[in-house]
Amino acid sequence: MKAFVVQNYGKKEDLTLREVSRPIIGEAEVLVEIYSAGINQLDTKILSGEFKQILPYKTPFILGHDLAGTVIETGSKVTKFKIGDEVYGRPSDHHIGTFAEYLAVGEKDLALKPNNLSMDETAGVPLVALTAWQALVEIGKVKKGQKIFIQAGSGGVGIVAIQLAKYLGATVATTAGKASFPMLKELGADVLIDYKTQDFEAVLKDYDLVLNSQDSKTLDKSLNVLKKGGKVISISGPPTPEFAKEIHASWLIKMILSLISLGVRRKANKKGVSYQFLFMKSSGEQLEQITKLIEDGIIKTIVDKTYPFSHTNEALNYVATGRAKGKVVVKIK
Ligand SMILES: NC(=O)c1ccc[n+]([C@@H]2O[C@H](COP(=O)([O-])OP(=O)(O)OC[C@H]3O[C@@H](n4cnc5c(N)ncnc54)[C@H](OP(=O)(O)O)[C@@H]3O)[C@@H](O)[C@H]2O)c1
Repeated sequence: MKAFVVQNYGKKEDLTLREVSRPIIGEAEVLVEIYSAGINQLDTKILSGEFKQILPYKTPFILGHDLAGTVIETGSKVTKFKIGDEVYGRPSDHHIGTFAEYLAVGEKDLALKPNNLSMDETAGVPLVALTAWQALVEIGKVKKGQKIFIQAGSGGVGIVAIQLAKYLGATVATTAGKASFPMLKELGADVLIDYKTQDFEAVLKDYDLVLNSQDSKTLDKSLNVLKKGGKVISISGPPTPEFAKEIHASWLIKMILSLISLGVRRKANKKGVSYQFLFMKSSGEQLEQITKLIEDGIIKTIVDKTYPFSHTNEALNYVATGRAKGKVVVKIK
């Protein structure tokens, strides 16, 4: 089968298209024929080598975290899926590789594809929707009437997070470029802040939760818009010692993460708010709930660009610019 592999880590490296053997499934896995794969910032960061300490993939390996496709083989212990099922998912860490024609995926990482979306639309959903779900539902436990600030509303995560927070009954503020305001209003955002000309710190006050996805300066300022007891959940770092524990990191990595997050943890403590780092996890069960919200018309997807499989590097480069409005997808079949 054809696959795009990371041959060497590096900021200027491209993926290499190679002919590799088809994966062999384990007993709790299914073989998915991939129709479309979503591109994520995580892919560009892994290729650049930025994630090598946390996710030490040995080169060469196939990149890619999001897929939509059809089940063509099932392991002996698979109970949820049968051949012919249309599925989607974010395979778990160390089992990635969706920039390929086929992938063996644990059934626990998959869900049936929403029946009102195309394969391309579906492929852009898993990683960002699971991130939004884990931030707002699992950790944030967002309740009706709360005020939530979601940064970068026009990005992959932001678009789902805004809609999910509205569904949970929150008032939602977001930052974006002015050109994205009409789209974000339609998705339900209540307070729109142009990040190029306005300072969100001057506009927002007494928020219950911030979903931080930007740099450390933005993170620092986010602490000031929270009410006492509020929460910042950051998906762009810095990772905490708790996260190091979660991934069973070495003592050295634990020390490093403890040091790099010390500043924000102290500041949060002083202000009576909490700081938590989230690195999303795969979950077929959570995707099932997301499928329902998509089929009920509560969460809409936005695909910015679709590329042919042969142009996967171009698609990655576009995502790396940080300018995508919604998701970027490669069409494999
Ligand atoms: N920890 C995790 O589990 C996890 C999961 C998913 C994502 N992430 C991280 O979260 C971040 C966002 O991910 P994503 O997939 O949503 O990214 P994305 O889709 O690439 O975001 C691009 C969007 O961000 C907007 N943007 C850029 N800078 C901004 C700023 N300073 N303020 C407001 N909006 C801004 C851009 O708008 P303009 O074009 O108008 O500038 C663009 O529409 C990335 O760093 C990613 O690695 C982490």
